[in-house]
Amino acid sequence: MAASTSELAPEGRIREASMNVTVSAAHSFQQVAQCDWLAVLDQTISSAEAAEMELSRQGENDPSEQRKASGSFYTPADVASHFWDLFFRHHRISDVRSLLAFTASHELVEPSAGSGMFVFSFLRKAALLGATPENLNSVRFHVVDINLAALRFFSERLRTVEHVTGARFDYIGPAQSDFLEWSRASAIPNAVFVGNPPFIANIRGARWRNLYADFVEAMLTYPTCKGVSLILPLSVCFSRDYADLRSAIRSAGMGISASSYDNIPDCLFKVGKPDSTNTNRANSQRCTILNIGGSDPAAREASALLSWPAGGRVELLSTVPKFRAFREDDPSGQIPRPASDVLANHMLEAGSARPLRTLLSKLGRPVFSVGGVARNYIGIRDYEAAGPGTIPIKVASEQDRGLVLQALSSELFFDYWRTYGDGFHVTVELIERFPLSESMVSRYRSTEAIARRVWDHRAAYAKEKLNSGRIVRSYDFRGAFR
Ligand SMILES: C[S@@+](CC[C@H](N)C(=O)[O-])C[C@H]1O[C@@H](n2cnc3c(N)ncnc32)[C@H](O)[C@@H]1O
Repeated sequence: MAASTSELAPEGRIREASMNVTVSAAHSFQQVAQCDWLAVLDQTISSAEAAEMELSRQGENDPSEQRKASGSFYTPADVASHFWDLFFRHHRISDVRSLLAFTASHELVEPSAGSGMFVFSFLRKAALLGATPENLNSVRFHVVDINLAALRFFSERLRTVEHVTGARFDYIGPAQSDFLEWSRASAIPNAVFVGNPPFIANIRGARWRNLYADFVEAMLTYPTCKGVSLILPLSVCFSRDYADLRSAIRSAGMGISASSYDNIPDCLFKVGKPDSTNTNRANSQRCTILNIGGSDPAAREASALLSWPAGGRVELLSTVPKFRAFREDDPSGQIPRPASDVLANHMLEAGSARPLRTLLSKLGRPVFSVGGVARNYIGIRDYEAAGPGTIPIKVASEQDRGLVLQALSSELFFDYWRTYGDGFHVTVELIERFPLSESMVSRYRSTEAIARRVWDHRAAYAKEKLNSGRIVRSYDFRGAFR
């Protein structure tokens, strides 16, 4: 195990070994009034954000490789602030009293703290709630990272906050360690894990494709785990690679709240994906802020996949997103991103619904096909030939063609795709699983004549685009069957 720069002294105080600050003092503090500790925290957070490039290059690898190799992509201050808003909401911390009740009964752990953004923004959130530095002197926060330079930076900044404000954070202390080793070797009561773990591809054959999943698993299996709140790649919600991880999350006996964030037009992180040298924002990671724990173990709620223009960032990150309930036994096995109230309610009541699969046939010639990718609508196409990029639809009867056509062109199916899809692909599985209630079936049957007429006049709904030198025509039937 890597040497720890802190240890729990017999009386329970976290004591640090001496740390020499290696990071330049470029972001040194201006003099601030002793009492204005919010201003001190704001300055500390700015310096923690600004230190990213310098700190993330320090470690065992070539500096140019180190950032990617250690997954050192730090959390912007506005995202960390949003994270704590969601955390406090999930744990029903709404005033100093409930905050102190929480901190008295839990120990926070940052598994991969970097420059300490989550610690400082926690203190800021507490300060905004009205907590004084003295209120927080018994907060226990274990600040883990493998990067000694980052921990030194963090420690130095914490000492400065203490010095300027007169606070004593004796139980907030760094530990230089691989978090997976730390989680095996440490034994703390009522652990609540918070942060943004490294997103690093694991070697082939590893238990999980990405290290973040090892972190989540280590947290969920930590003997005293009382909560896990992390910023994770969106893949945690839907990827087959993490189906077992989602099962572990669901069976942890804790409440689940998830909000998800697109990467177009704006994105949470200001740089490109770790595996890309392209710093184009469109290449940045789509993320989910996952809160596991809280007072209601049965809670199951999630937001839509949120997207916002750069000009809407401040509002997005200062607002609690709209959460919608989802079922514990949601048949997709996903953490859905419910795109609308109508879809969320449909899925809550979908227990007895029949999947669209029951109207499809394996025999005969396809009656139409569905474009394999979507953006603003589900593209219906004339079936030409079997090939990649389209999903042929076969049905048992002419009547079923009208029904399936209406179902796949409906706003509800579009919302279903946005809720369970990866944001790009329309898959066979998605189509086959789409649940149809009895009332939908009878409504679609009653408008079958309209469906036939629309299909006969489909040219009026055609949209064409050039794809690899070939004109692709698809029909946008939104609103056509009303
Ligand atoms: C994505 S950054 C997050 C830093 C900080 N939590 C934030 O959000 O600003 C990941 C951090 O994980 C650290 N790290 C990478 N592998 C680790 C491991 N096995 N155990 C602990 N920390 C690790 C890196 O040094 C880096 O500071």
